[in-house]
Amino acid sequence: METVVSGIRSTGNLHLGNYLGAIKNFVKMQNENNCYFFIADYHSLTTHPHPADLHSNVKQVLVEYLACGIDPEKCTIYVQSDVPQVAELYLLLNMNAYVGELQRCTSFKDKIRKQPDNVNAGLLTYPSLMAADILLHKAHKVPVGKDQEQHLEMTRTFGNRFNRIYETEYFPEPQAFNFGTALVKIPGLDGSGKMGKSEGEGNAIFLADDPKVMTKKIMRAKTDSGPEKPNQEKPEEIVNLFTLLKTVSTDDTVQHFEDVYNDCSIRYGDLKKQLAEDMVKFLAPVKEKIDELSSDDKYIQKVLQEGKEKALESAIKTVKEVREIIGIKPF
Ligand code: TYM
Repeated sequence: METVVSGIRSTGNLHLGNYLGAIKNFVKMQNENNCYFFIADYHSLTTHPHPADLHSNVKQVLVEYLACGIDPEKCTIYVQSDVPQVAELYLLLNMNAYVGELQRCTSFKDKIRKQPDNVNAGLLTYPSLMAADILLHKAHKVPVGKDQEQHLEMTRTFGNRFNRIYETEYFPEPQAFNFGTALVKIPGLDGSGKMGKSEGEGNAIFLADDPKVMTKKIMRAKTDSGPEKPNQEKPEEIVNLFTLLKTVSTDDTVQHFEDVYNDCSIRYGDLKKQLAEDMVKFLAPVKEKIDELSSDDKYIQKVLQEGKEKALESAIKTVKEVREIIGIKPF
């Protein structure tokens, strides 16, 4: 049986990109693998959240995980900070992570641009913490979206380097995983390439969005003035709308809008209306479950307590073995 590990930062509500890029794959994998899914609350500290927000976001992400179909009977769901062994492994991995390679990481360069007043060491070493999450359970597969590809590459580098330095085969090589052929990148509604929590209002479709809010966002999605020549190439924001349509609508619907785009008779208002209707339908069962679970604190506590115990078992074993390999042993 293979081990699967994946996580999501606790920085707010989950969006369609999280669902299609990662969670949908987790849900499919939990039947046949040894799965660990966690809420990365240590990672979210790089943006300095208010304590009350951090706490409520952890609950929100858990509720949304469960609403998407992640089943605590089949896998281990836990909060990253409930398993402090990850912090020790992070420290140990940092000893062999080079500042130059961390500085070259695309997500670090991105963050420097986005938060120039808060370039903290946690941001720089974000890939080592993520590697610690994955190596802590000796994972083989990591279901993630396209944006995490480089972090997975760094995880392999850190794991392989550890194996080489200590002349061991201890850590397996974890691979980013998607059931389709390629990792997914879901576009945002504002014409920018990626749906994301921090990309600004109106960019993301959140799983918990009220249908009216969702419809409004989709109706406001960026479009151009329309095709002028038959079979014209689509600009990025229109490609994005079609990508979203393909994820939630039937093949016939997609084909219809392809045809009217190609003969220049498309009305973007019709496309968006259809997209909104299909999106609301697609996410309705998840939304219903979110509303139901949000008030069930007892169940949430039970899930997290059981998850913590199972995750600790694996984490304690790994850190004990890693300490021994490194030479940290009792006298
Ligand atoms: P985060 O919280 O930004 O995103 C969680 C997951 O959602 C995917 N995702 C997307 N996929 C496709 N299209 C999008 N627009 C989109 N936006 C987000 C991400 O690829 C990710 O899989 N560093 C991670 C969290 C993490 C982690 C880990 C993941 C910490 N430790 C260990 C896996 C294993 C992150 O920031 O994801």
